[in-house]
This record gives sequence, C-alpha cells and structure tokens, in this order.
Amino acid sequence: AKIPVITIDGPTASGKGTVAQKVARELGFHYLDSGALYRLTALSVLRRGIALNDEHALAKAAEHLHCHFDGAHIFLANEDVTQAIRAEEVGNTASKIAALITVRQALYGLQLSFRKPPGLVADGRDMGTVIFPTARLKVFLTASVEARATRRYKQLIDKGFSANIEDLSRDLKERDERDMNRSSAPLKAAEGAYHLDTSDMTADEAVQQVLSWYAALG
Ligand code: C5P
Repeated sequence: AKIPVITIDGPTASGKGTVAQKVARELGFHYLDSGALYRLTALSVLRRGIALNDEHALAKAAEHLHCHFDGAHIFLANEDVTQAIRAEEVGNTASKIAALITVRQALYGLQLSFRKPPGLVADGRDMGTVIFPTARLKVFLTASVEARATRRYKQLIDKGFSANIEDLSRDLKERDERDMNRSSAPLKAAEGAYHLDTSDMTADEAVQQVLSWYAALG
C-alpha cells in the first residue's frame, strides 16, 4: 500500500508548523518542514555572500545542501542552526529564492525522500499541490494577518530575537504577496483541500480537527 501523507499548506505564521508536528507525533508519522529547506538554502546563500540574482549559484546551493534533521534540531553541515534559520532576514531571503523554479527543482527529490513508513505529515506552501499531489489528506490552514503577526511576535521574542508587530505585519503581507503571486508553485489551496481558519483556535483544537478529518477517511 502507498505510504500515507497528510499535507498542511498555508501562509507564513498560520500555525501550520506547530499543527503539523503535533499531528505527526499523534500518528507516529515522520514530519517534513519544507520551509526549513528553503530557509537552510537561504542561510547558506547569505553566509557565502551569493548574490540573489545569481540564479545558477542559488540552484547549486540548494542542490548541494548539506543538512540533516535530528528530532527538533536542524543542522547545516555540522552546525546546529535551529535558531539561526528562524531569523526574519533568513525567512525573507528564503521567500525570494523560493520563487526560482531551479531552486524548487533542486529541493524536489530531497522532499520526496521524507515519505517513509508508517507515514508523513508535510507542511509548506506546495505540499498538496506539487510535491505530494496524491496525499491522503490535504489541509489548507489560514489565519488573519493580526493573529499571525501576534504569533510570530511571540515566537521571535521567545527565541530571544527582538521584534515589533507593525514590522512583522508588513513583512507577513509582503511575503504572502510574493508566495501567492509567483509563477512556480504559488501558495494556494490544493484541489480537495480541507480549509481551516485558526485565527480563533488553539493549536490543540486545530490538531484535533485535522486528526478527525484523517480518521474519517478510514
Ligand atoms: O514556512 P516558512 O516561513 O518557514 O518558509 C519560508 C519561505 O520558504 C516561505 O516564505 C516560502 O516562500 C518558502 N516556501 C516555499 N515552499 C514551501 C515552503 C516554504 O516556497 N513548500
């Protein structure tokens, strides 16, 4: 039988990472944070001083990404960059290079390799539309800009970064625009996706909803 996949796509700071991780834990499934791959590529590019218009070098950086995931920790080469990839600058750069089809192609095979028994929960922008179109359950998670800016603010402060809500709202809107309007794999709900607006929900309520949709599929 095919290895089951649950995809959770949505805009930045919609809570999909938290929900996807918890759903994976509940089901004993593997977890793919596809955004982390774009962030890892961005971090590597920023550190090496690769110009954001040097498409060839950007694709090479994605193709030769030396990363591994160990529980909640993310490594670039042998360095723990779990925190470093969450910086706003890295997220903004990730969103810029993610618009390039060559970069997306370079990360395609790596994403597929996460589909292992007994199953996978994958979160990102194009998990249900492009990477795992045959997923058993597809979820499109949204939340208002206010709710998302507030969540992102708390996340950043908790991680010891400084932040302010106005800047974050503006960045979120900019990034949404870029992610929704790019020509390759734009952010949009997959056909047949279940929509979930988490503005007024806790993470656990969202997790329960996803689990009950999944259970209902049998
Ligand atoms: O989800 P996260 O904010 O970590 O993703 C960082 C950036 O990577 C996003 O703004 C988006 O542009 C890009 N991304 C993508 N496709 C994915 C996951 C993330 O283009 N599947």
